[in-house]
Amino acid sequence: MIILVDFGGQTAHLIGRRIQEFGVECLIVTPDQVMDKVNSGVKGIILSGGPGDVFAKDGTTVDPKIFELGTPILGICYGHQLMGYLLKGGEVESGIKKEFGPATLKITKTCKLFDGLPESSTVWFSHGDEVTKLPDGFIENAKTEHANTAISDEDKKLYGIQFHPEVVHTEFGTQILENFLKICGLTPKKIEINEDYVNNLVKDIKDSLGNEKAICALSGGVDSSVAVLLVHKAIGDNLTSVYIDSGLMREGETENLRRVFGEHYKMNVDIINAKDLFLKVLKGITDPEEKRKAIGKTFIDCFEAEAKRIGAAHPSSGCKFLVQGTIYPDVIESAGSKHAKNIKSHHNVGGLPENMKLILIEPLRNFYKDQVRKIGKILGLPDSITERQPFPGPGLAVRIIGDVTEVKLEILRKSDKIVTDEIEKAGIKLWQAFAVFTGIKTTGVRGDERAYGETIAIRAIEATDAMSANFARLDYELLNKISVRIVNEIPEVNRVVYDITNKPPATMEWE
Ligand code: XMP
Repeated sequence: MIILVDFGGQTAHLIGRRIQEFGVECLIVTPDQVMDKVNSGVKGIILSGGPGDVFAKDGTTVDPKIFELGTPILGICYGHQLMGYLLKGGEVESGIKKEFGPATLKITKTCKLFDGLPESSTVWFSHGDEVTKLPDGFIENAKTEHANTAISDEDKKLYGIQFHPEVVHTEFGTQILENFLKICGLTPKKIEINEDYVNNLVKDIKDSLGNEKAICALSGGVDSSVAVLLVHKAIGDNLTSVYIDSGLMREGETENLRRVFGEHYKMNVDIINAKDLFLKVLKGITDPEEKRKAIGKTFIDCFEAEAKRIGAAHPSSGCKFLVQGTIYPDVIESAGSKHAKNIKSHHNVGGLPENMKLILIEPLRNFYKDQVRKIGKILGLPDSITERQPFPGPGLAVRIIGDVTEVKLEILRKSDKIVTDEIEKAGIKLWQAFAVFTGIKTTGVRGDERAYGETIAIRAIEATDAMSANFARLDYELLNKISVRIVNEIPEVNRVVYDITNKPPATMEWE
């Protein structure tokens, strides 16, 4: 078993996932728990990244005794700096140049951690502090242009790397983690999500729900669709799905959902029209977090009202379970991890009222998006659903900067349809491509007249999980086609811009 010490990095749990994908058990612990959890079954310790500074007064730390246990240790980012800070002779300073995003790793002196790696490769950084003086007994193994990036004391099996091997953008990240498992004396072997795996998930749900009834909030996105189908497979008609039409959805969304789940899967879907209520609640709210919370609360209110109407949660109805399509990144990004900073309040996690009488079932809580897609495929869901781009719970409201109105929603919906249609026509597959209503009015010219109109931004991103992303290098001709169509077909818009920021530091959604 590997112990992963979680310092609250946004990608900390991704490390756990990578380890588990090698068929190795990984126990995630908080820094204060680590010494209590170490026993003879623990073959290695990984210190994760985190948002803190090691030299900050309240800096999160570990008992330095862990470095004397003889257990191999890999420090990643914050964990790496902590090694530099805690071990004798080492020094850490705030980096001269903060490195966010990609950097080129150059191996200066190889070590077992870098077995099989080329001399130069791409790695992903999200922190700027640097180990400026190596602890006694350590050597430098690799560097990037601005920082000393990998260090080790191979005799003691202690390794520190400034970058994140767990994110897919680090070219040889998986190889590095596999190498570490080998250093720990383990035999890493990749495990797969397959039919047996999914059948077991269904069986688990069946076992825990038995003959009980459940209701589900269906949004039509990949996550809730897969969650609904898993539960439907487990308990059949004992599941009722409720879809709340908030008016914050993309064009054609509600009709599509009715077609797929109602007509194709013959499932009972209650469609609630709550457009006016959402617009009323959102009136005048401009703060992104306030928006998210207001939407989350309204969803829950609507859902509870419907649950009550159909008799769920009432002792006589026997319906006491609520199924949600929460996936792992939703949990971690809502500060589900003890030390993580709250980036956004995902409405499907943060907003649940404490007095809710339904018991939550979240079958996808431990999975990442690509794994959810795979489960969906195994369940027989068509590509039109499993390959759908993710769509945020708060919908178009977080793609409108400023307050949300019907007029802005309409402009955004039309722009969004043009973006998605053109990208689909071009045969390009992306994690997400959408339009953003920036709320910035600029001067333009239409005919001979001065125009003062809206600015639409295009966001198109490549990613394999929600933790990190690159902006898509879309062809200029395609961007031109989208831009021309938007300004020609939507008179309120006179400017289109392209968002060229990666995640981190930007998030995928604008709010
Ligand atoms: P960010 O903007 O945080 O988004 O980089 C990462 C991925 O998550 C989606 N997203 C959400 N999904 N509820 C969800 O179910 C939410 O509140 C939410 N906010 C963002 C986003 O579209 C992207 O794919």
